[in-house]
Amino acid sequence: MNERNRESMAPELQVHRPTIAKREANLLASPVREDLVGRFVGKRYLLRTYGCQMNEHDTEIMAGLLEQMGYQATGQEEEADLILFNTCAVRENAENKVFGEIGRVRPLKARNPELLLGICGCMPQEKAVQDKVQKTYPWVDLVFGTHNLHRLPELVESAIHSQETVMEVWDHSDLVIDELPKVRQEGVRAFVNIQYGCNKFCTYCIVPFTRGRERSRTIESIVKEVRELIENGYRDITLLGQNVNDYGLDLDTSFAQLLREVGKIDGVERIRFTTSNPWNFTDDLIEAIASTPSVCEHIHLPVQSGSNRILKAMNRGYTTAYYQQLIAKIRHAIPSIALTTDLIVGFPGETQEDFEATLDLVREVQYDTAYTFIYSPRQGTPAATMTDLVDPIIAKERLQRLMDVQNVISRDYNEKLIGSVVEVLVEGPSRTNPDVLQGRTRTNKLVHIKREEGMMRSLVMARIDAANTWTLKGSVLR
Ligand code: SAH
Ligand code: SF4
Ligand code: F3S
Repeated sequence: MNERNRESMAPELQVHRPTIAKREANLLASPVREDLVGRFVGKRYLLRTYGCQMNEHDTEIMAGLLEQMGYQATGQEEEADLILFNTCAVRENAENKVFGEIGRVRPLKARNPELLLGICGCMPQEKAVQDKVQKTYPWVDLVFGTHNLHRLPELVESAIHSQETVMEVWDHSDLVIDELPKVRQEGVRAFVNIQYGCNKFCTYCIVPFTRGRERSRTIESIVKEVRELIENGYRDITLLGQNVNDYGLDLDTSFAQLLREVGKIDGVERIRFTTSNPWNFTDDLIEAIASTPSVCEHIHLPVQSGSNRILKAMNRGYTTAYYQQLIAKIRHAIPSIALTTDLIVGFPGETQEDFEATLDLVREVQYDTAYTFIYSPRQGTPAATMTDLVDPIIAKERLQRLMDVQNVISRDYNEKLIGSVVEVLVEGPSRTNPDVLQGRTRTNKLVHIKREEGMMRSLVMARIDAANTWTLKGSVLR
């Protein structure tokens, strides 16, 4: 399936795979209350994750907490004693999907009266969702938000003893929760939070409300985590934040400095980061990316719209001229850079002319790929009160036109790679065909290669033999 144009499919759903991955070394004292450690041996949990990598990473932390309590992972709903939906609030269709799932799994409670059903992550941060759960889904046992994640053990215990829904949602947090246990996804790729929250308040976006204000982890703590990951065999590390360019402003340091420090770690091979709001993308940051060899040649630089009028209404804080100039500077400093973006169509007040400006920008910039979305009003955000709504049919047509334009560009990029030799980090079997292995280039392109012994988790050089819009096919050079 095309994984880029995500609006066209159901929200991404990932089941947290039972995993043999190592726990992180050198944990601080367990945050799990002493009397809860190991108390739930024999019980099984299943975590379902929606939304962004931040949520995927939170799921790894929840798995870590649960396993310290004695819970074991299962992939089977029928076997589970605890099913938690780690939710995303960024668009309405993601939310509807979760409500549908909560209804669907309800009958499992008849088979296992001890089964606990919980909702956590970004959706419970919305008051409307809290009310809806209480009114319409009273069989949900447990609701907690993004700021209470570390309270999971106590909340599970309360839910076991409570006849009513246990709901604990803090509306903000100054905490930087640094050293929670994690059960990481098996593989070569790992995610490291460098910053929590977002201060940008783009008018359409709910994230500042669900994740609170920007808080940075210290460079020392991040470097320690990355070092441990590398020692444990992870080879491709993504630094995560909603607005990484602002990393460190609260600590008197900078994202550029962090990249340079992470780049000095022994054995570091591939460093990525996401997401960079184009605003505050400094020359120093471009220099740090260009001069740190382990930082991969890929930047995700969401532009959202090609119309200055709409960018202003979105409160993005830049113009298309600034953005184009930034792209030119980045390409000048790092000629092999791959650029990807996010785009929203159908923002209130978007005229045909505004939309054409977005198409023009996409044609000019020539992104490697783009994630395209139809605007979805989010209660509580400034845009939700805007009245000049775009007809949903027109928005859908615009999305299709945009995807058509971008898909040709993406395919062209991939076809140009045919015959070239690229470095591929092999991740594991392809999702669709176990006889084929999949890996990524430094520019984050997906490459399929024939399965051979001893190739898992290795860096190989591969010649690209074929290409389509979404993937490349390669053969390993010996
Ligand atoms: N912090 C990141 C974005 C995180 S949300 C950044 O600023 O780049 C990921 C993407 O979801 C956004 O880039 C935007 O394109 C999309 N998005 C966010 N809110 C949306 C909404 N209300 N409707 C449609 N798309 C939205
Ligand atoms: Fe949302 Fe804007 Fe913050 Fe990104 S930068 S998370 S789009 S408010
Ligand atoms: Fe969704 Fe929350 Fe991420 S709203 S995009 S899961 S920060």
